[in-house]
Amino acid sequence: MATVTLIISAGIAAYKALELTRLLRKEGHRVVPVMTKSAGHFVTPLSLEAIAEHPVYDSLFAAGQESQIGHIQLARQSDLIVIAPASAQILAQYALGLAEDLPSTMLLANTAPVLVAPAMNHRMWQAEATQKTIATLRGRGVAFVGPNIGDMACGEHGIGRMAEPEEIADAASHILGLKDTSLSGKRILVTGGPTCEPIDPVRYIANRSSGKQASAIVRGLVACGAEVIFVHGPISELSVSGAECHGVQTAQEMLDAVMAQQNIDVFIAAAAVADWRVAPRAQKVKKGAALTLEMIENPDILLSVTQSVFRPPLVIGFAAETDSSLDHAQAKLRRKGCDWLLLNEISAQNPAFGAEENHLILLAQQGDKVAVTDWGRGSKDALAQRLCAEITGFFA
Ligand code: C5P
Repeated sequence: MATVTLIISAGIAAYKALELTRLLRKEGHRVVPVMTKSAGHFVTPLSLEAIAEHPVYDSLFAAGQESQIGHIQLARQSDLIVIAPASAQILAQYALGLAEDLPSTMLLANTAPVLVAPAMNHRMWQAEATQKTIATLRGRGVAFVGPNIGDMACGEHGIGRMAEPEEIADAASHILGLKDTSLSGKRILVTGGPTCEPIDPVRYIANRSSGKQASAIVRGLVACGAEVIFVHGPISELSVSGAECHGVQTAQEMLDAVMAQQNIDVFIAAAAVADWRVAPRAQKVKKGAALTLEMIENPDILLSVTQSVFRPPLVIGFAAETDSSLDHAQAKLRRKGCDWLLLNEISAQNPAFGAEENHLILLAQQGDKVAVTDWGRGSKDALAQRLCAEITGFFA
């Protein structure tokens, strides 16, 4: 049993702290709720106390509370501090080391791991000030879960929704060592799915990628405790949780979303990026005459990453080939400057696109040699787990 101190700051998502408390207790943890002054506008201390079966602390200066258990003691007894929801305010206080109220004072005195589940309007999340705060906290080893993309209480849509209680409880368990933590502390960026390149306002060019292999990789990495950022094109059934997901349409949008990420340990380019886009047309093309499309080459995202100054220590590309593929794959591994390349040979036996199974061959650059290992055929999830094990081995 671990002691999890749950800091609840002000935000509409505070009501989810009740469910989070229930889940943490179900996992056998003792939950000590600590609220900011304004959090009481969104969730009542009484409900929290009832579900946690533990007193709620909310004041640095309430004589009873400070004598019963002081802020230093609260920090000292914690195996993990979870801040959920974490408002822009509490994150900024934490980054600056301000000790203004009970939660911020406790955080300053704390040496236990901290898990943060941010929740705020997407403009606030994307604000330069918030992003600098996040970078500072990440640099100090603070773990993040979410925020997710979705509809917000303010009626807008975007990134900033608090991760679901299940995701937060899962991330808490990883940190507490109850689950596989082989990749915890690693920030892994994955691209997946197709890209869609518009021809005109209603038509587009795309490809057959379902995003299933990339989604399986994301699930595998999350299960190993990695912090995963998934930049994906249009995927009909997105079945991942616990990852920061960015949905995009075009190759250019995918490139922008990828290049916006920082401090990445592993980049996995599993997306089937359209090689060309169509010169933009403002009006719908009329039927009746033969249509000629002017194609413009798209940026190569994988190459942009390997050539960037932020090149992650491990870069993994994919190659889908239909002919004498090993030679092509070796050439691609070198040309793209990646460390590993996963080859799937597209054939009648291995349709790969849209299927539940795949056949992968790993090509790993080792000095000026390339080691080739055939992983054989298997479910996309099993192959993803093999990849996670190889990545774990790389960092071991
Ligand atoms: O050149 P090709 O498309 O065969 O390369 C495949 C690899 O390169 C995959 O890892 C794919 O995700 C990546 N790629 C990319 N950007 C492109 C084209 C491919 O990241 N524009």
